[in-house]
Amino acid sequence: MSTAPVIPTGPLHDLDDWDDFLEGRYKEGKSESEFRQYDATATPGVAEFYRLNHENQTVDYVLEKEKAYFSLKKGQKTIWEAAEFLNTLVDDSDPDTDLTQIEHLLQTSEAIRRDGHPRWMVLTGFIHDLGKCLCLYGEPQWGVVGDTFPVGCAWSKDIVFPEYFANNPDRHNTLYQSKYGIYEPKCGLENLHMSFGHDGYIGEVMKNYLRDESLYMLRFHSFYPWHRHGAYDHLCNDKDRAMLEWVLKFNQYDLYSKGHTKPNIVELKPYYDDLFAEFLPPTLAW
Ligand SMILES: [Fe+2]
Ligand SMILES: [Fe+2]
Repeated sequence: MSTAPVIPTGPLHDLDDWDDFLEGRYKEGKSESEFRQYDATATPGVAEFYRLNHENQTVDYVLEKEKAYFSLKKGQKTIWEAAEFLNTLVDDSDPDTDLTQIEHLLQTSEAIRRDGHPRWMVLTGFIHDLGKCLCLYGEPQWGVVGDTFPVGCAWSKDIVFPEYFANNPDRHNTLYQSKYGIYEPKCGLENLHMSFGHDGYIGEVMKNYLRDESLYMLRFHSFYPWHRHGAYDHLCNDKDRAMLEWVLKFNQYDLYSKGHTKPNIVELKPYYDDLFAEFLPPTLAW
C-alpha cells in the first residue's frame, strides 16, 4: 500500500507518548499513592492531552462517534493491510531508530507467544492497537488513545487527572453525574458507552470472530480505572469479574513488552498468516 505518511497533530509528540506515560505510572513496585504523584509540569504535553480528552468526551460525542464508526463502513481490509495502513502513521522523530507500528504490535504478540499463551491471545496482542488508525481517519489524539471510562454516569476519582473534568459539559447534567447515571446497577461493562477511542473500535471490528476473553482485552485494555483500580464495580456483572483476570494478564504485555530490537517481519509472516487464517475471515469490515 502506498499511502503517504501521516504525522498526527496534537499535544502529544506521537501516540506512543501516552503509552510511555502509562508505563511510568504503573512501574512495577509502584504504590497506589505514588501512582497519584504524576505532575502536569513534568509532562505538559500529556497533561494537555488529558485535559482535551476529559473536556470533550461527553455522552453526545461518544454516541456520535459510535454511530460514525461502529457500523464499519470504512471498507474491507485484511489484517496485514490494516497494519500497513496503521504504519503510515509516523512520528516526526528519527525514523531509523524508532520502531514502526507493525513492529510494536509484533513485540506485544511475540512476548505473549514466548510465554506459551494460547494462540488466540497471541492474535489479540497483534491486533489490539489496530484501532489507532482512527487517527488516519482524522480523529484527534484525545479521541483515539488515553485511559477510557464510561460516559453518562459519575466519573470515578480513579481516572487520571480527574480535575480536568471541570470543563466537561456533562458536569451540568444531574443524571450523568449520578452514581449509575443512564445505566442499571450491575448492567455489565458490555452495555456501557465508553469514552471513544481505539479500544472500542477494534472491539467492534472483531466482535463476530473472537472469544469473550479476547474481546474484553480489546475493548477494555485502556480502562485503567477498572482493571487497575477496581472502579465501577457497581456496574459490573459476574462475567466482567470473570474476564478481569484475562484483561490483567494482557495488560502486562501491553505495558511492558516494548524493547528496542526490531522483530523480523519476513521471518514471522508465515506464522501470522496461519494465525489470522485460523480465527478470522480473509478480509474484515473496518
Ligand atoms: Fe491500546
Ligand atoms: Fe497497546
